[in-house]
Amino acid sequence: MALVTMKEVMADSLRRALDKNIDPKERYAVGAFNFSTIPEMVGIVEGAREKNAPVILMLSLGALKYIGSLELVADAAKGIARQYPEVPMVLHLDHATDLDMIKHAVTVGFTNVMIDASQESFEINIEKSREIAEFAHDQSPRGKFGCSVEAELGMLAGHEDNISVSEEDAGKAYTDPALVPEFVEKTGIDALAVAIGTAHGFYKAAPKIRFDLLEEIRKATDIPLVLHGGTGVPDEDFKKCVAMGMSKINVGTGLKKVYTDAVREAIKVLPETEYDPRKIVGPGRKAIAEEIASKCDLFNATGKAKAVMQELYR
Ligand code: 13P
Repeated sequence: MALVTMKEVMADSLRRALDKNIDPKERYAVGAFNFSTIPEMVGIVEGAREKNAPVILMLSLGALKYIGSLELVADAAKGIARQYPEVPMVLHLDHATDLDMIKHAVTVGFTNVMIDASQESFEINIEKSREIAEFAHDQSPRGKFGCSVEAELGMLAGHEDNISVSEEDAGKAYTDPALVPEFVEKTGIDALAVAIGTAHGFYKAAPKIRFDLLEEIRKATDIPLVLHGGTGVPDEDFKKCVAMGMSKINVGTGLKKVYTDAVREAIKVLPETEYDPRKIVGPGRKAIAEEIASKCDLFNATGKAKAVMQELYR
């Protein structure tokens, strides 16, 4: 199957999030995972395939700089999608700020882009997010499906490539539920990243998630909500976010650790005469697949590929 948009991949999760009569245990979030190399992309998809789950492959600006080209990543993702047709998957550009670069990603085949103008004023955030939403919905090579768009309201603490926000500033900038309807309506975006107490990177202390805000934000809009800063969030908090209607959960830093720990261990146990990179970094890819599989269970996305496919062909 070809890559699908995030809007399509989250349609089933969103329907469940908005259904007030559903058992909250029936809700789930689609996992979105950062990668820096093509084997990591494959590991992510293999983990999702093992659990029959949909998945979102996320390219950060740092990873883009390392890999070197949006086209290369888009072509690799298209190839992986052909190789694993049973996995509904999205290629997402994360936390991008440069409008021209985001438009370029849309034209080469990314199926979701994030415009992060959350550090700008409310008005500029609306303006930039709307420009990207209009462009992505009209001009993607994916024809009538276009490319979907995520934007952020409020600010997350931590460091994400070109964006750094201190904990003090972030504490002042949780997503304001009162601004959500206007932001969603004026921008035309497809998913909203919320700042409710998580942060990018490892936590010094367990995060205090503002579930009260999540409840208000979920009531304020009917588009999918996105939780950033998934590394180090306690399992129970993830489950509560999912039960309350979160549709996408981003995990990055923790995956880097899983990968690197596995590679370090391989180097430690292999003889010094072993030079085959497949034996050295291969365990990293396998460890990533295992981690994704366990996140699919945690986010309750296991077994949901079929429901996503049914929604696609509705
Ligand atoms: P972590 O690196 O904290 O898991 O956050 C990832 C993220 O939110 C990417 O957008």
